[in-house]
Amino acid sequence: MKVLIVGSGGREHAIAWKVAQSPKVTKIYCAPGNAGISQLAECVPIGPMEFERLVAFAKESQIDFTIIGMDDPLVGGVVDAFEAAGLKVFGPRKNAAVLEGSKAFSKDLMKKYQIPTASYETFDSAQDAYDYLETAKMPVVLKADGLALGKGVLICNHLEEARAGVKELMEDKKFGSAGNRIVVEEFMTGREVSVLSFVDGKTIKIMTSAQDHKRAGDGDTGLNTGGMGTFSPSPFYTEEVDAFCKKYIYQATVDAMAAEGREFKGIIFFGLMLTKQGPRVLEYNARFGDPETQVVLPRMKNDIMEVLEACVDQTLDQVDLQFEDNAAVCVVLASKGYPVHYDKGLPISGLERLQEEKGYFAFHAGTKFADDKTTFLTNGGRVLGVTALGEDLKAARENAYKAAEWVSFENKYMRHDIGKAIDEV
Ligand code: AMP
Ligand code: GLY
Repeated sequence: MKVLIVGSGGREHAIAWKVAQSPKVTKIYCAPGNAGISQLAECVPIGPMEFERLVAFAKESQIDFTIIGMDDPLVGGVVDAFEAAGLKVFGPRKNAAVLEGSKAFSKDLMKKYQIPTASYETFDSAQDAYDYLETAKMPVVLKADGLALGKGVLICNHLEEARAGVKELMEDKKFGSAGNRIVVEEFMTGREVSVLSFVDGKTIKIMTSAQDHKRAGDGDTGLNTGGMGTFSPSPFYTEEVDAFCKKYIYQATVDAMAAEGREFKGIIFFGLMLTKQGPRVLEYNARFGDPETQVVLPRMKNDIMEVLEACVDQTLDQVDLQFEDNAAVCVVLASKGYPVHYDKGLPISGLERLQEEKGYFAFHAGTKFADDKTTFLTNGGRVLGVTALGEDLKAARENAYKAAEWVSFENKYMRHDIGKAIDEV
C-alpha cells in the first residue's frame, strides 16, 4: 500500500513513524514533509493548500491512502477534492471540519445538543460585542470564530482589556477574516486534558489521554505557543471523568454531527477542562494534536493503517483499540525567541543516539538538510519533539529530559517543567 501524508510538523513525523510500522505499507510520501520525515518517507514539494497538485500527485503516483495531518487543508475542503477524484482519504469533509473551523458553529452545536461547555454569546458586530461587555461578568474569554493558528483566544480580566480585545479581533483584524465573528465565553477554571479519538461517522473510539503545555515559559508564563511539550496519559483523566465524557460528550458529538447532515470521519480532538462541575468542552479540533500525537501514537498497540481504513470504511466498531500500559513524555526543543523572533539554519548534533536507543524518538517539527544532504539544520521555532517512553510518567519524564540533553544546537530552548503536574497527583 502506498500512503501519502499531508503536513510538515512533528505531528506528521509521528504519524509517518507509526504508518511505517504497518506491514501493509510499502511506500510513504509526505507533502511537503521535513528533513526528519524524509528518513521515513519520500518528501514531495507540494504545499498543503495546493489541492489540485496534491490530487494530481496522488493519482500519478497511485497512492492508495492519503492522511491529512493539518487543520487548514481540512477546513478548506481537501478531503472533498480527493474524494471527487475517487481517491481514498482520511479526514473530515469540509462540511464536518467546520467543527474546528468555526468556533461559533461548534458552540451552537454543543448548545443545541446539550453537550457541556462554557456559556457564550456570538457577535458579528464590534458594537454589539462592546455593548454586551458592559454588563458581562469578568474575566471573559474572546475567541475569533475562524482558524487563527491557535492564537485567536484572549482571556480578559477586566472590561478595558476585553474592549481592547474586541478591537484587536474585530476592528484591527489581527487574525484577518477569522475575527469577522467572535464568541465571547464564560471563563472556566480547572485542569486541561486533550483526548483524541478515531471516528467513522457513527462509531467513536477514544485514544489514551494527554496534556499539552501551551505557554512558552516555565510555570505557564509567557506567550502562547503551538505547544512546548506533552505527557500521556493524564493522571487527572480518571475513570469517573472518562465515564462522564462517554455519557455526555463523545458519542453525543458524533451523533450531533450526523444529525446535522455533517457526518464526521477522521479525528476528533476534544480539548476538555475538568471543572468543579465536571468536564466541559473547551474546543474541538478536527485532526491529531501537535504535540499530543508525539506521545499518544508511540503508546498505541494497533496497526494504525487498520484503524484509519476502518474509519473511512465505517467499520470502526470492529476495531479493538489498545494502548500500552506505560507512559510517554515529549519535550519540545525550540529556538530561543520562539514564538516571536528566532534564527534558523543552525546545525543540530546528537540525533543519532535518539535513533539508536529503544523507547526514544526525535520527531522533527522544523528541520531541513544542509547542502551536504546529511547535516540537519533548524528550520522553525519548534525544532524537535524529543519523546521518551517509560514504565510510568515519572520514568518517562526522566528519560525525556535525559534525551533532551543528547541533542544540541545553538539557541536551543526548552521548558524544564513539562509534566510537573504529575508530582501533584
Ligand atoms: P481554545 O483554542 O479554544 O482551546 O483556547 C485556547 C486556550 O485558551 C485553552 O487551551 C484554554 O487554556 C484557554 N481557554 C479557552 N476557553 C476558555 C474558557 N472558557 N475558560 C478558560 N480558559 C479558556
Ligand atoms: N496541541 C494543541 C493542538 O494541536 O491544537
